[in-house]
Amino acid sequence: MTETTNKPTIVIIISGRGSNMVSILDAINVGELAVTVAAVISNRADAAGIQLAQQANIPTTVIDHEAFASRELFDQAMLKEIDKYSPHLVVLAGFMRILTKEFVDHFAGKLINIHPSLLPKFKGLNTHQRAIDAGEKEHGASVHIVTPELDDGTVVLQAHVAVLKNDTVEALAARVLEQEHKLYPAAIKKLIEEPKE
Ligand code: GRF
Repeated sequence: MTETTNKPTIVIIISGRGSNMVSILDAINVGELAVTVAAVISNRADAAGIQLAQQANIPTTVIDHEAFASRELFDQAMLKEIDKYSPHLVVLAGFMRILTKEFVDHFAGKLINIHPSLLPKFKGLNTHQRAIDAGEKEHGASVHIVTPELDDGTVVLQAHVAVLKNDTVEALAARVLEQEHKLYPAAIKKLIEEPKE
C-alpha cells in the first residue's frame, strides 16, 4: 500500500495565479493536510497556476471555455473531466466562471469555493473596494459550499481581517489573501475530517 492510497482526493479548479492552490499544496507538503490532489484543471491555458501545479508534479488539464459554444457544453466537459478522478471535494480556487445548475447539482455538497469577503456580505466582484466604500470595520474571506446561486451556500470557515484607517484596496486585498492561504487548507481539513452526512 502506498502512502497516498487511503487519502481523500481533491481536484482543484483555477483560472489564474493559483496562490490558493499553492497554499493547499504547501499544507499537504508539511503534513497539515492529508489529501491527494488528483488534478488541477484550468479554463485558461495561460493561468500561472498551471505551471506551478506542473512544477509540483500534479496532473494538469486545460479546458478552454472559449472552445465551447455554450456555458452548458463547457460545464459538461469540465464535469466529465472531474468525474474521471471521483474526488471527495472539488475545490474552486480563483475559478472565474459562473457554473451551471447542472454542474453544481452534480457535485452537490462536495463543491467548495473561497470568496474574498465575509459572506453573506459582498457577493460578486470588487469585494475589497466595496468593503472600504461601505465603511466596514471588518472584512475577510469565506470558504463556502457552492450552490447554484452565486457566492451563496453554507459557510465552512471564515477569516476576519480589520479594515484600517486609510486602507487601500491593494493593502487590504494583500492582508485578506494572506488569511485565505491559511483558511482554505483549514476548511478542506475540516470538511475531510467531519464529512457532512
Ligand atoms: C482569491 O482572492 C479568491 O478569494 C478569489 O479569487 C482569488 C484567487 O487568487 N476567489 P489565486 O488565484 O488563488 O491566487
